[in-house]
Amino acid sequence: MSVRLATSLETTAPNPAPEFSQAVSGLRALLADDLGEVNKEILSRMESAVPLIPEIAGHLVNAGGKRIRPMLTLAAARAFSYDGDDHIKLAAAVELIHGATLLHDDVVDGSHLRRGEQTANVIWGNKESVLVGDYIFSRAFELMVAAGDLRVLQVLSHASGVIAQGEVLQLTTQKNIATSIDTYIEVVEAKTAALFAGASHAGAIITDADTKAEEALRDYGLNFGVAYQLIDDALDYAGFDDDLGKNVGDDFREGKMTLPVVYAIARAQPDEKAFWRRVITEGRQNDADFEQAVALMKRDDAIVDTIVCAKQYAERALFELAKAPDSDYASALSDLVTTSLSRIA
Ligand code: IPE
Ligand code: IPE
Ligand code: MG
Ligand code: MG
Repeated sequence: MSVRLATSLETTAPNPAPEFSQAVSGLRALLADDLGEVNKEILSRMESAVPLIPEIAGHLVNAGGKRIRPMLTLAAARAFSYDGDDHIKLAAAVELIHGATLLHDDVVDGSHLRRGEQTANVIWGNKESVLVGDYIFSRAFELMVAAGDLRVLQVLSHASGVIAQGEVLQLTTQKNIATSIDTYIEVVEAKTAALFAGASHAGAIITDADTKAEEALRDYGLNFGVAYQLIDDALDYAGFDDDLGKNVGDDFREGKMTLPVVYAIARAQPDEKAFWRRVITEGRQNDADFEQAVALMKRDDAIVDTIVCAKQYAERALFELAKAPDSDYASALSDLVTTSLSRIA
């Protein structure tokens, strides 16, 4: 027996930035037919004879999500005039990998809100989230095998390992106020950018594009992924729950060493260093501390400079994308990067 899932997917997550929402919608409109097929594939792969599996997977999938990563795969393939159908399976696999990592990530981060809904770990529990995440991962691998391209299988399976390494590396930097910018970037490249890179790389690989073009799409995804995560990390301090569909302040509560914190600590006065040690290293926080942290970040341009850093990665992404032939898909991919910076005011 399985729980009935929504037959069509709501693909709009809460989002404050009109320009970015428009870019997401623009890409979605270009890829509407493909995305319909991807959604069918995702839904069918979540089926299981164990009812709790489609119940938990359906909760996450039906809550929406912007579908950025599968759109990277689809648009990359279309940008090189691909006319087969393997891009559907690969895009679905990419979104399933993302979904599985979110289930795991919310357990690890102790998060309560995802895509505007209570997280699976809050509703069902940590064990349930981890095990269903594992199931979704394996379904993603079955899909990749079904697509039958060994190079793509290599790229995406490697990306999955890199994501896991990134999450573990991040765990080892947690509460460590000596964490460097380089280490933080290493975490972000692994936990987030690797899948962006794998997604766009996979889309290019299945086409007739040459190696240079494939690598350009890979590096577009890699740099966009870093920019995207940097903005997300800034939003964890300067955004709003309702806009993000996630709880602002989760990173602070967990003592995560994201770039806004790294900058703020580097620029802190001696007495403020004691504040950061107490709230991050010792994890002793009271109700007023988050506001105090945000105030220090704003005073010392820690948020602004995180956005500046994101902008540099976005520019590198656009430089790589410019190597692809002109097309509506390429310009939509370009808009996505440019407007992603405006997710934060
Ligand atoms: C969330 O990714 C995880 C991060 C990399 C910050 P998205 O912002 O793409 O989440 P959904 O899929 O749209 O919910
Ligand atoms: C995002 O990590 C990357 C993965 C899910 C692997 P975060 O922990 O920063 O993402 P959010 O903020 O929970 O979406
Ligand atoms: Mg998280
Ligand atoms: Mg985050």
